[in-house]
Amino acid sequence: MGLEPKHSPRRPDAEKTSLAQEVKWNEEMNAYQQHLDELKLTPEDLKKKILDVGADFGYFAEVAKRNGYDNIYSIDIEYPADMYHLDADIGLGAEKLAVADAFQLPFKDKTFDMAISFCAMPNIAGGENPIDYRNRVKKVCQEMLRVVKVNGEIRMARVVSWEDPTDKRERATQIKKVLEWFNKSRHFEVTVDPTGEMDGHPSHLIRIKKLS
Ligand SMILES: C[S@@+](CC[C@H](N)C(=O)[O-])C[C@H]1O[C@@H](n2cnc3c(N)ncnc32)[C@H](O)[C@@H]1O
Repeated sequence: MGLEPKHSPRRPDAEKTSLAQEVKWNEEMNAYQQHLDELKLTPEDLKKKILDVGADFGYFAEVAKRNGYDNIYSIDIEYPADMYHLDADIGLGAEKLAVADAFQLPFKDKTFDMAISFCAMPNIAGGENPIDYRNRVKKVCQEMLRVVKVNGEIRMARVVSWEDPTDKRERATQIKKVLEWFNKSRHFEVTVDPTGEMDGHPSHLIRIKKLS
């Protein structure tokens, strides 16, 4: 682990923020429980070999490890030391954190039982407009599915950002097209479950199972 994508930006010290504050914020938000609830992760799931894509400094894997689950790998395009002053007494992604691009995961095919992504797809996919967004989400899903074993699955929560309600609707429409595309293939099975509300907008868990 420890690969660095070519375009990983190096930030000057003045632009970095405090990791201790980020950890505190995650704790106040109960971010670990949010992951469990919105990704519907059961104790059985947590025993599996999981890849967390767009995991930031790997808070989820770190807290999971404290709870006895030590098979969660994390990747993020940014190296934590480039984003944060490392002023917190916390490990980074349970020592299973790599700097890597979600579009080119540095793992062999069929490495994981499950790949998850929480609140990261809006950042990962970006895209100037909803159609770019659709194409990029599809690519990331294909890449996540590549590294998942047959009968494994990918799970994604907060796939569309809630920040701009109009854009959100358009992006949500494009995501539906991505899911229809996967569902048409006999290789995949798509499920979408409501998980409650985020800032007044319904939020969903998207699962794509790899059937063959
Ligand atoms: C909103 S944060 C979510 C972090 C974490 N999943 C959480 O819930 O705390 C989105 C993360 O996606 C990462 N990211 C953006 N583009 C990426 C890419 N192409 N590959 C991997 N990670 C990426 C960002 O660096 C950022 O840490």
